[in-house]
Amino acid sequence: MTVDDPVSSPVRQAVEFLHARLSGRPSVGIILGSGLGAYADQAKVLAAIPYQEIPGFPRCAVEGHAGRLVLTERGGICVVILQGRAHRYEGYALDAVTCPVRVLAALGVQTLIVTCAAGALDDAPPGTCMLIEDHLNLMGDNPLQGAAPGGGGFGGFVEMAGAYDRALLAMAERVALASGLSIRRGVLAAVTGPTYETAAEAAMLGRLGAQAVSMSTVPEVIVARALGLRVLGLALITNRAGAPLDRQIGHRQVVAMATRKAAAVGTWLDGVLDGL
Ligand code: HPA
Repeated sequence: MTVDDPVSSPVRQAVEFLHARLSGRPSVGIILGSGLGAYADQAKVLAAIPYQEIPGFPRCAVEGHAGRLVLTERGGICVVILQGRAHRYEGYALDAVTCPVRVLAALGVQTLIVTCAAGALDDAPPGTCMLIEDHLNLMGDNPLQGAAPGGGGFGGFVEMAGAYDRALLAMAERVALASGLSIRRGVLAAVTGPTYETAAEAAMLGRLGAQAVSMSTVPEVIVARALGLRVLGLALITNRAGAPLDRQIGHRQVVAMATRKAAAVGTWLDGVLDGL
């Protein structure tokens, strides 16, 4: 490890620490977005570690994100749950935002399930669950820019077509139908925030081909794909993006709506784990 290797050093530190602390070797990772953290609280907890204890891990200070890594098990599958994430809008570079994904991959995770709160760009009402079938990275940045972790210069070009695993998507859809969770598919646009969209921005994103917009998730998916992980993504619609001022949105409402749907999303996650 060299001092001019800023990307890999936090990842290595975290992996070394977690190897010593975690008994099981996870094959599935789940990242829980705003207000969706309750799933980890009701899981069979084998280990729970606050992010601030994990060297190299970014802290997350935003309401609705507990900032805890939870190791659990379901049906013989060892699962690591990240209860909350760090965001670009908190001032973190995308290297730091996506460090946990690199850590999960190094721990042995092969399938990553990402969840987030999102604003609807069409008529989908709050509470709608959208399986992410594609994305628009509009963050003006890419977590793969620069040297590859471990040094060695530019890390190479990475294919993003088919980033969201078709078989996982179909399975996740069947699970939703079976559990009565209404679900749709769509394209997620990622922006940095922290401003919510103006009405004009929301209209633009809709015209660009997205059905929902979020301030997270897409950088994680980009890194996961670069590392060869299978990805499944769920965006929970918490509000109408770019809604007029009389229905002004705020993070509180986003978290409250996500919290209301957390149990249903949890049932769906259980079904997805059973279907893997
Ligand atoms: N815009 C961007 N990100 C979001 C929104 C939104 O309206 N709601 C939840 N996350």
